[in-house]
Amino acid sequence: MILVTGGAGFIGGNFVLDWLAAGGEALVNLDALTYAGNPETLATLAGDARHVFVHGDICDRPLLDRLLATHRPRAIVHFAAESHVDRSIHGPGEFIRTNIEGTFTLLEAARAYWNTLDAAARRAFRFHHVSTDEVYGSLRADEAPFCEEHPYQPNSPYSASKAASDHLARAWFHTYGLPVLATHCSNNYGPFHFPEKLIPLTIVNALAGRTLPVYGDGLNVRDWLYVGDHCRAIRDVLAQGRPGETYNIGGGNEMTNIDIVRAVCALLDELRPDPAGSRERLIAFVADRPGHDRRYAIDARKIGRELGWRPRETFESGLRKTVRWYLDHPEWVANVQSGAYRGWIDKHYGGAGT
Ligand code: NAD
Ligand code: TYD
Repeated sequence: MILVTGGAGFIGGNFVLDWLAAGGEALVNLDALTYAGNPETLATLAGDARHVFVHGDICDRPLLDRLLATHRPRAIVHFAAESHVDRSIHGPGEFIRTNIEGTFTLLEAARAYWNTLDAAARRAFRFHHVSTDEVYGSLRADEAPFCEEHPYQPNSPYSASKAASDHLARAWFHTYGLPVLATHCSNNYGPFHFPEKLIPLTIVNALAGRTLPVYGDGLNVRDWLYVGDHCRAIRDVLAQGRPGETYNIGGGNEMTNIDIVRAVCALLDELRPDPAGSRERLIAFVADRPGHDRRYAIDARKIGRELGWRPRETFESGLRKTVRWYLDHPEWVANVQSGAYRGWIDKHYGGAGT
């Protein structure tokens, strides 16, 4: 049995589905079902006894103690977080609570539980902390991609809160010996991605004939990875990673935002032509994000060298799968576009995205 936190979100949900599809052992999925958590992502697991869903908060220590004592997991995979940079700019408080206090509470509960295990179970136990490349800050165009030793320079409330949680996880390994693994991944894309992030927002808006907002000059660069490749990397690190080590995960796929938006338009134009013309007509350059990091890029050689992991999808194959998935699942999209979602779009884009 393993315990997953945040398994109703984008990456956690994909991880849970992949884990069970790959024949993994049973798991407890603890998720608070914030606006970003969606039980429909897990609908295909209905009736599967290997999936135990628990609606709860990682800040709730008595709940964590009860779950650990009852299910006695051999590992915790910690995805739960507030994850959207723009939301962290509008309201950082929830990021401090979930990402920092929540990770602290989970580490403390894990440590107390781990101390009750026998020597062999203590050695085998793993706490896998899922983090982001954003903690390293922004790269200049001529700088080498982020390696694991890159200094921490978080620039947004989101990345600062993730950086703080990374430091806690590291300290719980060094101080208490808790067997912590940490991974830092670049921007993910794929099925079940909430349409507040660039790629799903572009797909959903383009299909509805709405504006495609591009921040600033559109030349900010991200390193994009298909979510299934990230999930497999986490499985590999959980199975073979060395406690106390961090592993950077990336697609080797640096692209500007404007090229991403154009690529999505081109795929939609091919797969679902619009009589009104190419979706590129919907692109609108809008006000830049405050403190917008210019470039992220990942050096993923360590996980390749030590664990043999490499991405399987190219950007072209992964994006095609993603666009097809959104075309095939209009009901999932309609359901996540709740009142709360529309409120966010109005608040952040001032009507431009609606
Ligand atoms: P997401 O926002 O889609 O999902 C987060 C999930 O956590 C949701 O299901 C939400 O309900 C749950 N959650 C939030 N607060 C909670 C709390 N207090 N207690 C319990 N559950 C809570 O995020 P995501 O994109 O799937 O990201 C998952 C993890 O991966 C995060 O830690 C994020 O920092 C990291 N990450 C994301 C990316 C990316 O491109 N999305 C890249 C690298 C790392
Ligand atoms: P996002 O998907 O929010 O991920 P992150 O900020 O974690 O990298 O944004 C990806 C890039 O796309 C980022 O440079 C901001 C930009 N962006 C836009 O240009 N328009 C948008 O509407 C959004 C949501 C993002």
